[in-house]
Amino acid sequence: MLPTPVMERIRDEFMDYRGLGASLIEISHRSKEFDQIIDRADELFKRLVKLPSNYKVLYMHGGARMQFSSIPMNLLPLKPARKAIYAKTGEFAKIALQEAERYGQIETIVSSEDTGFDRIPYVDPAKVDQNASYFHITGNNTIYGTRWHQFPQTGNVPLVCDMTSEILSRVVDYSKFGVIYAGMQKNIGPSGMAMVIIREDLLGHAMESIPTLLDFAVMAKDHSLTNTTNTFAIYVAALVFEWLEGQGGVEAIEKVNNEKARLLYEALDNSPFYKPYVHREHRSIMNVTFNLPNETLNDKFVKESGKEGLYALKGHRSVGGIRASIYNAMPLAGVQKLIDFMKEFERKNG
Ligand SMILES: Cc1ncc(COP(=O)(O)O)c(C=O)c1O
Repeated sequence: MLPTPVMERIRDEFMDYRGLGASLIEISHRSKEFDQIIDRADELFKRLVKLPSNYKVLYMHGGARMQFSSIPMNLLPLKPARKAIYAKTGEFAKIALQEAERYGQIETIVSSEDTGFDRIPYVDPAKVDQNASYFHITGNNTIYGTRWHQFPQTGNVPLVCDMTSEILSRVVDYSKFGVIYAGMQKNIGPSGMAMVIIREDLLGHAMESIPTLLDFAVMAKDHSLTNTTNTFAIYVAALVFEWLEGQGGVEAIEKVNNEKARLLYEALDNSPFYKPYVHREHRSIMNVTFNLPNETLNDKFVKESGKEGLYALKGHRSVGGIRASIYNAMPLAGVQKLIDFMKEFERKNG
């Protein structure tokens, strides 16, 4: 979900962008109005995450999965071995590493596949091959509901992180990463685009065959405007960043997010009826996954919660069960309503 005040602002400005007599989606991506929007988005984002000055912010086409290709194409040539290391912690981590295998030698250094991706495996820093071009992790595993509470130590190997489902949800020290990227559709705005935040020294090493629009150095030079970008998505992103700053920034939203997750996990842990999926120490604060005693009850839960206005609780098709996605814009009251519903459902069906 997006914050309601942001949606209202979009509605109010949609037909006539700030007195211009045209909609934002009707004007050029090279207009001064759009320049102001993208500059403002950059400025707000950098302030929100306290981005060090040697990082670039890019708006890339094609969502997060397009970056599963652009990351290896941009970074594998950093070292002669053209090798990268991946942590296999979920479906998206798997797709990312399979995509990278098309371009170089990919080593899966750790995996939690054998336990159904219910945890984050430990990475022994001594085992991180320093000849690797980069080490890729998925910060928050959306489908399973796990997250890296501590990020792995990688020595001099740049850490690359897919933060699609947790960007801006918690305080992160960006200086510890080579690249952070995220599909924009969870905590930022519309789908189909990704933000890529990259340390400047990692630019300019791409494979010669890379498509121009996937080359981070080209996009950095052109301020992400090599071709016609999705102006609407960047406009919404700027509004979301403004909203987040108004909430007190990432530090403040992290506290709310922690509290939302704490309440929900507490409700799960105190019930013999609901079974949380993930090991306690690896739990996500964005995606809370659990099961009821059987499939029939899982289905009934999804149907009946929908009637109460509690939407999208069905677990991902690859795992089933229930998944409550409680991204930044979900208010505490939304989580409280879910907990009340869960208690009532258990009373009737337990
Ligand atoms: C962690 C993660 N990575 C990648 C993706 C794929 O994103 P996109 O659909 O923008 O390619 C998702 C989608 O939910 C995701 O949660």
